Amino acid sequence: MNRIRSERHGPVELLTLDRPKALNALDRATLEELLEGCARLRADTSVRAVVLTGEGRAFVAGADIAEMRALDAEQAQAFSRLGHAAMDALESLEVPTIAAVNGFALGGGCELACACDWIYASESARFGQPEVNLGLIPGFGGTERLVRRVGPAWAKELVLGGDPIDAETALRIGLVNRLYAPDALLGSALEAAAKIASKGPLAIATAKRVMLQGRDADAATAHALEQSAFGAISAGAECAEGMDAFLEKRAPSFEDR
Ligand code: CAA
Repeated sequence: MNRIRSERHGPVELLTLDRPKALNALDRATLEELLEGCARLRADTSVRAVVLTGEGRAFVAGADIAEMRALDAEQAQAFSRLGHAAMDALESLEVPTIAAVNGFALGGGCELACACDWIYASESARFGQPEVNLGLIPGFGGTERLVRRVGPAWAKELVLGGDPIDAETALRIGLVNRLYAPDALLGSALEAAAKIASKGPLAIATAKRVMLQGRDADAATAHALEQSAFGAISAGAECAEGMDAFLEKRAPSFEDR
């Protein structure tokens, strides 16, 4: 059974988590589909941006508690590893990814949104890491990616406190970039993705890679990475087209990835 629907909107791929009866809870089948979906997107060079959303009243209400209840320690660790693999695959896609959070983004759902490049949300969305209410901790990157997004103090309040926050608070703490009325969210996310899809795909892929690699490096290594990528991309055809178009006062025409 398909847990994730995919649709093309020109160069933009829309992925919709589609198990609304369980508030799109992430079970193994969904995580495996997400991994397969990322491999497919990586190979399809006509895809230039991705929007991820949820069907119904949730983005994702967390990892699947019913499935997790039966796991022993070893199986739970394997489940966490699978979740991490799926989040890493999403985070390292060459193309920009926007989470369009339409409702609950709790536990694994908040972690999934944080694996996207940025988050747009509905004014009625709710975010949180409620694992401590279950006697559990985040398992798909919440102890780490969330800290980078919002800083340790807010991440600790969310992870240790277990209470959800509303969309306005999520905006204020920098978890979410922009809020939209519920009916306007998906259209606005697709519009933003389509706009980015018209930019230089090699430049976008390179900037993403350098930012991701630089994140875990010391400053000198990160600066050296940027310098070498800047040099390499400057010598390429895409940059030649971009700069020529500027100098000739015309719109650039960029090839697929
Ligand atoms: N796993 C499995 N099923 C879930 C689920 C989840 N995380 N969240 C909701 N559902 C199911 C419910 O069991 C219910 O199913 P039935 O209709 O078959 O009973 C259905 O979705 C609708 O949910 P509710 O009836 O609870 O809806 P509500 O509007 O009353 O409450 C909610 C909504 C506040 C989101 C509530 O469902 C809730 O608290 N869900 C769990 C949130 C949570 O704890 N998430 C963290 C999970 S652990 C995790 O994610 C670990 C990790 O990092 C890997």
